[in-house]
Amino acid sequence: MRIIAVTNQKGGCGKTTISTALAIYLSHVVGKKVLLIDSDQQANSTEILLELEKNHYELGSKLHSLEKSIVRANPNASPVAIKSILENNKQYSVLKEEYEKSFRELSKDDESRYGIQHLLSGRVKDISDVIYETNYDNLSIIPTDVSLINLQKDFANNFLLKMHLNKLTGFDYVIIDTPPTINEMVINVLNASNLVLIPVMPDAYSIKGCRQTKNYVEQTIEAQKAILRENNVDIDYRIVLNGVDERLIVHQFIISEVKKEFGDKSMNTHIRRQNAAVSRTNTYQTHFMLETGYKRQEIAYDFEALINEMEMEV
Ligand SMILES: Nc1ncnc2c1ncn2[C@@H]1O[C@H](COP(=O)(O)OP(=O)(O)OP(=O)(O)O)[C@@H](O)[C@H]1O
Ligand SMILES: [Mg+2]
Repeated sequence: MRIIAVTNQKGGCGKTTISTALAIYLSHVVGKKVLLIDSDQQANSTEILLELEKNHYELGSKLHSLEKSIVRANPNASPVAIKSILENNKQYSVLKEEYEKSFRELSKDDESRYGIQHLLSGRVKDISDVIYETNYDNLSIIPTDVSLINLQKDFANNFLLKMHLNKLTGFDYVIIDTPPTINEMVINVLNASNLVLIPVMPDAYSIKGCRQTKNYVEQTIEAQKAILRENNVDIDYRIVLNGVDERLIVHQFIISEVKKEFGDKSMNTHIRRQNAAVSRTNTYQTHFMLETGYKRQEIAYDFEALINEMEMEV
């Protein structure tokens, strides 16, 4: 079982995009057994993989279409009249109720689902009790939600996650999405990982964040060596440029700077910038861009190359 953390203290550099895309690719496309762990209280990976928003947006779009068709069927009706037609339409009322319910579901703090916070605080003892199936073949998730912020003071030690993952069986890969910071949660993630992937966007601020994260990862590796009294700890890291447009001179310059500074630790594979049409699909973008056949986006080839470069024997 290989454990891959995707981390960078800089926000918005593609941690969630890469975590979810890698997880979907390895499981749904390649057929490996994959567990994604969401260790970011923003819970973006959780929303994407449990498709929490999908239902809401689909209902919204159905409601909107129905509204439009009713308006079109009654071209001379005033807004007040339209309102009354809509209110008396059974299909519309049912859909509206479902839509409003899904909005409330999405916006409330979800205490009903166990997540990584329950496992690490000791409220749930067995890791299998916080693992959920997703709609993707072979892909499971340990989700989280905003209540993860309450955990920080409760961390028993920096190797807690590792201890739990040691008991895990039946998975080929564990992929861990992390928050844009360095906190006890992230330290636990680093200590549990074999490979730390640091995504970085091609701009000066991102490179700065990447350098700080890289230094921190190196310190963690050194600390592990000291604690375990071993020289060969099974953890390494790689830097991967994300959102690259190789046609831009400035991106070409940054690619060469990153290579110069980070050498072998920077990956040859770059993840290209998705075009507007793809990124507009937002929550489903990872799925969309990994679809096979005519829909397959160029970026899917980047993930294939990334996996090959990580020597994942897929
Ligand atoms: N290769 C790419 N091409 C175009 N847009 C991208 C690419 N990668 C990520 N994005 C977009 O950039 C934004 C930030 O990405 P993402 O949420 O994955 O970053 P993050 O590092 O997880 O952010 P945070 O630090 O808040 O957790 C999203 O809108 C995402 O769609
Ligand atoms: Mg994220």
